[in-house]
Amino acid sequence: MKQPQVVMIGLGYIGLPTAALIAQNKSYVHGVDTNPKIVDTINEGKIHIIEPDLDKAVAEAVSQGYLKASTTPVVANTYLIVVPTPFKGKNEPDISFVEAATKAIIPLLKEDDLYIIESTSPVGTTEKMMDLIYGARPELKTKLNIAYCPERVLPGNVMYELVNNDRVIGGIDEKSTKKAVSFYKEFIKGDLHETNARTAEMCKLVENSSRDVQIAFANELSLICDKAEIDVWELIKLANKHPRVNILQPGCGVGGHCIAVDPYFIVSDYPMESQIIGKAREINNYKSFWCAEKIQTAKLQFEINHGRKPSIALMGLAFKPNIDDLRESPAKYIVQKVLQNANNEDYYIVEPNIETHNVFKLTSYKEAVEKADIIAFLVAHKEFKQLNLSKDKVVLDFCGVIINNK
Ligand SMILES: NC(=O)c1ccc[n+]([C@@H]2O[C@H](COP(=O)([O-])OP(=O)(O)OC[C@H]3O[C@@H](n4cnc5c(N)ncnc54)[C@H](O)[C@@H]3O)[C@@H](O)[C@H]2O)c1
Repeated sequence: MKQPQVVMIGLGYIGLPTAALIAQNKSYVHGVDTNPKIVDTINEGKIHIIEPDLDKAVAEAVSQGYLKASTTPVVANTYLIVVPTPFKGKNEPDISFVEAATKAIIPLLKEDDLYIIESTSPVGTTEKMMDLIYGARPELKTKLNIAYCPERVLPGNVMYELVNNDRVIGGIDEKSTKKAVSFYKEFIKGDLHETNARTAEMCKLVENSSRDVQIAFANELSLICDKAEIDVWELIKLANKHPRVNILQPGCGVGGHCIAVDPYFIVSDYPMESQIIGKAREINNYKSFWCAEKIQTAKLQFEINHGRKPSIALMGLAFKPNIDDLRESPAKYIVQKVLQNANNEDYYIVEPNIETHNVFKLTSYKEAVEKADIIAFLVAHKEFKQLNLSKDKVVLDFCGVIINNK
């Protein structure tokens, strides 16, 4: 392999597809991951994550010598940081992975290099990393190009969206922005929108917070309608007939590693100002708790009505329909909460997108629906929409599986 033009630090759901895409455009990419298993898998031309078309892209890039993985970085011209940014303690962002990745490349940097953070980051992270870099390498001050460019791809469609989505690119100065734009221009067809680093950082956080707030509105309506004895699904359908109203659908909470996480990056830094954003997080979390309580109440009611304990089907564990990802999943939280209150009832836990789970014993959705007295739909998986439920079942449809399919 020739000297790489690009070092990609972090070879996960975002870093690996991006590395493969850049390599497909005939730039030499040196991928770095701290996990040696991931490095070995990639060097064999294979992948460790599930993403359509990624296997082919990686196999091709590795076999043609444009992509190589390692646990340590090497000298290049462009460095991309795509490592995790989880939260810690009381919902505070943890940028230690970004810091560690940056420290690893500081000794390799030279004049005119381009350093880009793609990890979702709290506002000011790019400036903090600039200070870290120039603190260690003062001779390079103002001579590097430092920028932030967030990623907004949809898992499952990453290879298409990486190329075709618009991107927001913000440098710490004009020169850095221009340099980053000319880098992305090589492999992105979407429009590249120039701004500064702080705005680009906030833009990513605001996109996901906006989704969270809109879902919270729908979830709040579902709570109000339950008390007011109004069918929330019918209500939303009717309200959306207004030409300028577009209410989303309620569910049993909000999950995943983006929408359920990123708003905290704003709330943690701007607690007084981010009232709606913080409240939306609370509402979406509360909705999951409320669903678990509803199941508990239905259990007790069944016992009163029938003089025996019910059997219960808990339908879905994933954080959204038709995927196998359980990260930050409200459905998983509800199942855990319901099982904590178990009192000799039979439970059938269903997740059609995974074969086994290390904690829950899974049952097929058909068997669960046939055997259970109470059926609680937690995720609107496509399999559930085709079910014929007999009239004697108690159905708790938290995500519109039955109602929206009539
Ligand atoms: N996955 C998505 O859909 C998505 C979408 C938009 C933005 N993001 C953001 O992109 C970033 C990366 O997310 P992801 O889903 O690719 O994460 P991931 O966990 O799939 O991958 C990150 C990789 O980085 C590696 N890593 C951690 N520290 C490292 C270090 N110091 N040096 C080298 N490698 C290191 C890990 O081993 C892991 O393989 C996060 O900030 C995330 O919020 C993710």
